[in-house]
Amino acid sequence: MKIIETVAELQALIQQEKKGGKSVGFVPTMGALHDGHIALVKQCRDENDVCVVSIFVNPTQFNNAGDLKHYPRTMEADCALLEAVNADFVFAPTVDEVYPEEDTRQFEFGLLDKVMEGEHRPGHFNGVAQVVSKLFSMVKPDRAYFGEKDYQQLAIIKAMVRDYEIPVEVIPCPIVREADGLAMSSRNTRLTEAQRAAAPLISKTLLASKEWAKSLTITEVKRKVLESINESPELEVEYFEIADALSLQSVNSWAQDGEKVGCVAVFAGEVRLIDNVVYR
Ligand code: PAF
Repeated sequence: MKIIETVAELQALIQQEKKGGKSVGFVPTMGALHDGHIALVKQCRDENDVCVVSIFVNPTQFNNAGDLKHYPRTMEADCALLEAVNADFVFAPTVDEVYPEEDTRQFEFGLLDKVMEGEHRPGHFNGVAQVVSKLFSMVKPDRAYFGEKDYQQLAIIKAMVRDYEIPVEVIPCPIVREADGLAMSSRNTRLTEAQRAAAPLISKTLLASKEWAKSLTITEVKRKVLESINESPELEVEYFEIADALSLQSVNSWAQDGEKVGCVAVFAGEVRLIDNVVYR
């Protein structure tokens, strides 16, 4: 496994592989890797000749300076995990390497980024689009792997690839959970013991909401989800929305056409956790 810090070196190596007719798979990450990331890397490894993983804590997608400052950075442990699953290249650039000049691009995603995470984290998805589009043009992967835990991020990346005609296949991968149901996240390591013990209530509630959806209206399900999670003194729901699974716009009746998704953001102290459930 080779660790690369510059775009020039990365591109030279990838060009060489592509000349030999090899397919390139890519997993973009911000490091602090857990089993959710490793599942993406394993799938990437299985489906491509060359497996590239980036580790880059992207400053432009943080709308909260404290969150950026405290984002866990565990480069050595990350590399050991990636070596164990046979990643070929780890691309770990500096901020100046990715952004030699300020990135002033503004992406247009219609209503997709105006709701949920987009509404509560202004500028977040523009920052994600900036870095992911840059990484795609640096790595030029055939396939790129993203987790479904960041449901809205995945929808935005699919829209970016389609609307900005970026030649890459986006592969969605299922949420990986701890044994008690908590969705894996790099932020979980920042939870106190009490917050960690309370956090599985989020996924338990989302799972229960699938049952509630069989007999209750959307308004009633939303109320029950808020009540259930907020019952824990450690947790506070920022939003819970039931939306059309494709447009991500809020729906108010189960009878509306199409699959629905329930997306939640919850504060455990200063740590912000997200999760989602699909109603089929
Ligand atoms: O999901 C993440 O870890 C990040 O948003 C991503 C896609 C690596 C872009 O920085």
